[in-house]
Amino acid sequence: MDEAIIQAAAHLKTAQKVAVLTGAGVSKESGVPTFRDAMEGLWAKFDPQELATPMAFKKNPKLVWDWYQYRRDLVKRAAPNPGHFALAHLAKRFPVFTLITQNVDDLHEQAGSTDVVHLHGNLAQTKCFFDCQGYPTLVDLTTIQIDPDNTPPPCPHCGRWLRPNVVWFHEILPQHELNLAATACETADVILVIGTSGLVEPAASLPKLGKLKGAKLIEVNPDYSMLTRHADVKLEGASGVLLPQLVEALDV
Ligand code: OAD
Repeated sequence: MDEAIIQAAAHLKTAQKVAVLTGAGVSKESGVPTFRDAMEGLWAKFDPQELATPMAFKKNPKLVWDWYQYRRDLVKRAAPNPGHFALAHLAKRFPVFTLITQNVDDLHEQAGSTDVVHLHGNLAQTKCFFDCQGYPTLVDLTTIQIDPDNTPPPCPHCGRWLRPNVVWFHEILPQHELNLAATACETADVILVIGTSGLVEPAASLPKLGKLKGAKLIEVNPDYSMLTRHADVKLEGASGVLLPQLVEALDV
């Protein structure tokens, strides 16, 4: 068994409180492209960072709505991979286990993870762009008629635009989820950082905060990230391959 896996398992074997931060890399083996991968096909010419902003939505609401519809369809065709299932299994081994994700897909939940802390919202949810009934004014899309030539659909309350319930660039994160994530990282014995470039704040700072408070940091990523230099153990490779190996090493 790989030496790094043995080291990571040794840290986890003595842990009572574990926090996990996942990024788009954990869904890559489910066929969902990461943010910094070149976008496939129709959307290749668009930069996600140009589309996931309130300004982009105001400028061209149909383009942004249709881009998210494309991503929703991608996620609908995706299934959890062994990395998602390994995390759902890991959760059962620790008295305190908090799964924090930057992802807006629901693949962790589909794999059986519960109480997932979504820092950047949830693609499956839709809300009024103006939160006309309060933050957030969620709307069930199955209850309204959608004309594909006339998107975004109107809010059933105020008649103005609907939008995906995800956090865009230049927007603040949901305070409740951010507090949950920060507390989990600050009090963790071990923090697993999986499939994230560590480029986007404040999510990227949470593992560093935990490390300052004494947590051991284990990173799972085939490449170098902005968090690699903070890691106590680096598992270099795909999470769908390495996380099941880590679970197996815990059972030894
Ligand atoms: P990125 O696309 O920035 O980074 C994905 C990371 O996953 C990279 O470090 C890859 O090396 C790694 N990776 C690729 N394949 C992998 C695999 N099979 N197993 C493990 N890791 C793999 O995605 P995020 O870091 O999640 O923000 O991006 C963070 C945020 O930037 C997103 O949440 C989004 C985006 O703008 C918002 O939507 C607000």
